[in-house]
Amino acid sequence: MEIKVSQDVKNTPAEVIVINKFEGEKTSQELANTYAVEKDHFEGKFGQTYLLHTLGQIPAGKILVIGFGKKEEFDHNKMREAVAKAVKKLQQIKAKNAVFDFDVNADYGKSAAIGAMIADYAYDKYKSEKAHHLDEITFARFSESDVKEGIVFGEAMKFTRDLANTPAQIATPSKLAEIAKSLEGIETKIFDKDEIERMGMGAYLAVGQGSVRPPKFIHMKYTGKNVKKKIALIGKGICFDSGGLDIKPPSSMLTMKDDMSGAACILGVMRALTELKPDMEVHGIIAACENMPSGSSYKPGDILTAKNGKTIEVDNTDAEGRLTLADALCYACELGVDEVIDIATLTGACMVALGTVASGIMGNDEQMIERLIQTAKDSGETYWQLPMFKEYTDSLKSDIADMKNTGSRYGGASTAGLFLQEFVKDTKWCHIDIAGTAYLEKPQKEFIAGATGAGVRTLLNYVTEK
Ligand code: BES
Ligand code: MN
Ligand code: ZN
Repeated sequence: MEIKVSQDVKNTPAEVIVINKFEGEKTSQELANTYAVEKDHFEGKFGQTYLLHTLGQIPAGKILVIGFGKKEEFDHNKMREAVAKAVKKLQQIKAKNAVFDFDVNADYGKSAAIGAMIADYAYDKYKSEKAHHLDEITFARFSESDVKEGIVFGEAMKFTRDLANTPAQIATPSKLAEIAKSLEGIETKIFDKDEIERMGMGAYLAVGQGSVRPPKFIHMKYTGKNVKKKIALIGKGICFDSGGLDIKPPSSMLTMKDDMSGAACILGVMRALTELKPDMEVHGIIAACENMPSGSSYKPGDILTAKNGKTIEVDNTDAEGRLTLADALCYACELGVDEVIDIATLTGACMVALGTVASGIMGNDEQMIERLIQTAKDSGETYWQLPMFKEYTDSLKSDIADMKNTGSRYGGASTAGLFLQEFVKDTKWCHIDIAGTAYLEKPQKEFIAGATGAGVRTLLNYVTEK
């Protein structure tokens, strides 16, 4: 689907013209006012739609009216959802093109474009029968640069969703490394198994040792023109999480190709940075590997030594993400950046606590957490702060090593966060748990089932914030 901007709607031919109606107000089209509002009492409550056949009375064959709800409650998030709704409706009626002529400020272009692209998304690469897509939509009245920025965000999300939806047989550690290497304008270093060993990443290495597919440590770097801040983004990159020797039951393993959603997010973000060009230095870091059971797997009871010298007794081989992140965090902190953010499908406990609507956030700097929560809200995502009670740190104690890789089952998202904190020095750090939000088993709001691109919008807005 191509997205265009035109200030001259009258002369843009379209099958469907999409307009808005606020509650208690008229629309910009007389026909809609007569038929939808007066005759059929279409109220325009948020998300309602009304389709009107124009029968030759205006050049466009149909008018689609979208309810925008109460004018004073309308915002960028509502715009994104409304456009997504409209695009889904247009898909349903198999429209090929449409002009969106909304009676609002010109600065809604970014959220409108993002909404259109989220709704246009389908993962049908392996289906013989493809989804119906619109060929083209045109936004009237919006600023072209806002729409362009929205398209960059939309493309980043699509890229991330495609990658996280890709089966583990294809989206391997080597494949992620290959993608990272191919990003133009990004400096990428790939570390192979021997180098990972030499760097002392014993925790990460252990997780990957049961797989026939070798681990790949990926370090990408974007450098802006006038660097004002340095930040490292780490994505959990478990290309498949079988649980290892502490193997998962079938129903829990079913979606574990998505355990690299954090990595897919970071790749999507890095890819978009060369277009958004923020005045920042951004490092993208992925410790990619598979967690598999085999004769060479790491075992419960093994003692691993992380990059910072701390020893970890393996309590459960299914708590693998934090082991890979531990070494990635050590690596990131050594880069001398101002802030580190990790994003990970880390715990089922986070999913139990917050469901599929909100991601959990923790960290060592309240201001940074607050800023990320607010950025998420403005971006259309929800982050919810989880506590890091010191009491739970005790549950990570080991009799024979510095710590175990699991603590109390209750408060499991928090104990995972506390584990990670052991590998962060003095750098400002936040941890985002997207276990519940990265992958949907059934459709939710603008999203179809499958990967959602969790984190992409928020992190892009965070690193490009002026
Ligand atoms: N990748 C999982 C977490 C997960 C669960 C993500 C469900 C998405 C949906 C993680 O590696 C894991 O297995 N965590 C364990 C930790 C436990 C053994 C302490 C969990 O949450 O059960
Ligand atoms: Mn696991
Ligand atoms: Zn995992």
